[in-house]
Amino acid sequence: MSKTIFVLNGPNLNMLGKREPGIYGGKTLADIEADCKAAGAELGLTIDFRQSNHEGILVDWLHEAADTAAGVAFNAGAYTHTSVALHDAIRAISPVPVIEVHISNVHAREEFRHKSMIAPAAKGVISGFGPQSYILALQALKTITQ
Ligand code: DQA
Repeated sequence: MSKTIFVLNGPNLNMLGKREPGIYGGKTLADIEADCKAAGAELGLTIDFRQSNHEGILVDWLHEAADTAAGVAFNAGAYTHTSVALHDAIRAISPVPVIEVHISNVHAREEFRHKSMIAPAAKGVISGFGPQSYILALQALKTITQ
């Protein structure tokens, strides 16, 4: 049976395609979901792809992952830089691996994006490869959950 991977997306990522295309590119979140599902099919992974603008819902989905997912690719958006609750939720679901994902290279942007609250709890971080960051995270999850 193929493993389920949650791909979780935080605030404002539903605006991809319209939102600052010079930074995030022209793909919509639906395009990225389709790319993740195609890559998942090739990797033998079932992709459960979700987005919420609400921190507590992201916490709930991480808890759900503890029971149903082999791993999580997580673009927490701006909550990356602020959320102790998401840090704690990632720690709470250990040993389920969570990979922090960013479309943009957060370290090449404003200083407030250089700090990640969730990176110390995550298995690793992939940042700066555009929508391909998601696919790289799926490849990494395939390898580390084998
Ligand atoms: C982002 C980077 C964050 O700093 C920002 O708040 C986002 C998107 C990215 O994917 O590059 O919403 O996570």
